[in-house]
Amino acid sequence: METIVKGMEGIEQAAEIIRKGGLVAFPTETVYGLGGNALDPEASRKIYAAKGRPSDNPLIVHVSCIDEVKPLVSELPGDAEKLMEAFWPGPLTIIMPKSDIVPYETTGGLDTVAVRCPENRVTLAFIKESGLPIAGPSANTSGKPSPTEAMHVKHDLDGKIDMILDDGPVGIGVESTIIDMSGEVPTLLRPGAITIEDLTDALGRKVEIDPAIIAGGVSEGIHPKAPGMKYRHYAPNARMSLVTTRLLKEKDYDVSLGERLEADKQVAALINDLVKNDEEEGLKVGIICCEETRGCYTEASDKKAEIKVLGHRSEPLSMTHELFRVLREFDDDKVERIYAESYSDKGVGFALMNRMRKAAGMNEIIAD
Ligand code: TXA
Ligand code: MG
Repeated sequence: METIVKGMEGIEQAAEIIRKGGLVAFPTETVYGLGGNALDPEASRKIYAAKGRPSDNPLIVHVSCIDEVKPLVSELPGDAEKLMEAFWPGPLTIIMPKSDIVPYETTGGLDTVAVRCPENRVTLAFIKESGLPIAGPSANTSGKPSPTEAMHVKHDLDGKIDMILDDGPVGIGVESTIIDMSGEVPTLLRPGAITIEDLTDALGRKVEIDPAIIAGGVSEGIHPKAPGMKYRHYAPNARMSLVTTRLLKEKDYDVSLGERLEADKQVAALINDLVKNDEEEGLKVGIICCEETRGCYTEASDKKAEIKVLGHRSEPLSMTHELFRVLREFDDDKVERIYAESYSDKGVGFALMNRMRKAAGMNEIIAD
């Protein structure tokens, strides 16, 4: 049994556990992380074992300030420093060439290291107190939705780690943006709350998108640069499908109000039909929608379908905040089929849709 300690109280004990080679789950603004000493190969091995994660999937190294990055990299590209100054502490992970002190156990055998400074006062104090860089993947069982509350961590990792630092529910709810600054061209490897537009503005030059993000990391012939993006991820137990219309896709969700209302009705009609069929077969069904459309699902809610409203689609951050919690609730309730509306990929919507597509295994149903 690990201890759950609230707020700043557990910091000294947590730092002591890290220095002795143990594991501590910690809060961040994105999701909860599972921390160990990033410079200790044995601690990294323990992290992989606790998560049941393949060891070729590198860990993110967490620091409490820019100065702590220098020993971890063989070279600190000027543009990378620009990004740190613009966005840290914050939800941005930067890939750089690693120095010799970072073991290959932490980087999954790669010559680069992923570094991030999270915006959470408990965790910043915990990193400082331990005096070490903290390797930390998301604190979930490999393949499951990332934890956005301490209880999610306990659910997945109870008995496998030494301590959980609890700072309540996270703010953002999806993992950090990852940008690779180790090559010639800055490349986005995972979308998050810091958008490609934010990065382009800060750098004053083009940022490429790793094709694996669009492909969902599951297509043949595409090898994601972030090894983690190739695994089935964020997956609920239920089979999940995204539902949209041909027009919304064609126009990239840039439609008139009239077209939007028509499309909402079309999507809801299709989902209501699918739910009806599944329920006739005795399946338990869940629906994911938004504040703007919740009124379209009264028919389904008269039956047994569980309807979850993520937030306002006009504010994707209100939806990222809820997504993983909702997927976990569907698991708890033994839901067998999930139908989710699709939303625009613009801004933070890109991060939301990336996680939703992965949760759905890229499965999409299009209404004509
Ligand atoms: O928001 C976050 O980033 C959270 C919190 C805890 O900080 N952490 C997180 O870690 O999401 P994890 O391990 O679940 O995801 C790390 C991703 C994986 O897809 C991994 O493949 C990629 O980062 N990654 C790590 N090091 C890399 C490297 N050197 N090159 C390319 N990708 C790397
Ligand atoms: Mg993860």
